[in-house]
Amino acid sequence: MDNLHVVDHPLIKHKLTIMRNKSTGPKEFRELLREITFLLAYEATRNIETLQFEIETPLEKTTGYAIEDKKIVIVPILRAGLGMVDSILELLPNASVGHIGVYRDPKTLRPVEYYCKLPSLNETSAVFVLDPMLATGFSGVHAVKILKERGARNIIFVSLIAAPEGVQQFSVNCPDVPIYTACLDRQLNDHGYILPGLGDAGDRLYRTK
Ligand code: URA
Repeated sequence: MDNLHVVDHPLIKHKLTIMRNKSTGPKEFRELLREITFLLAYEATRNIETLQFEIETPLEKTTGYAIEDKKIVIVPILRAGLGMVDSILELLPNASVGHIGVYRDPKTLRPVEYYCKLPSLNETSAVFVLDPMLATGFSGVHAVKILKERGARNIIFVSLIAAPEGVQQFSVNCPDVPIYTACLDRQLNDHGYILPGLGDAGDRLYRTK
């Protein structure tokens, strides 16, 4: 699991515990997902490129740094990934946002793509794929495949909770894609839900159950 980065921090642990609790309602759940994504993004963006240039402080010249956030592309996997977009846009306001809609066939658990709208991509794009739950890994691997077909080479996957099965799926199919997550949970159940997990992230965000 060399590609896995678990962002282990008391703030994240505290907030994730509240999200896991079944009595936490959608408003708090959405707020906490936004806050944890902010903290995850701090680590996940650690290696993005910066430009150096000279600036003048009131006292002297010094080196300044800038992120070319127009080269950054955020790709939420619909629909739960949408809950992570706003906090990354707060940090990188000029990033582009693409969308990939994939649902899991409930019988095979395999990804079925129903929507894809992406900005143009090339080898200089830094692409952050967002999905709170890295469960089987099929949807994430499918999203990465689409992004690579469109020219992306630098892809980072950001999730809230990962299952070992999903991480393994990534390691085999996209070993070049680092995964940043708040927690590595125990396992999947027979329906592809993460244990202990937090249930269906989309349903909890949008109160659809
Ligand atoms: N998707 C979810 O929302 N939750 C899981 O546990 C697995 C996949």
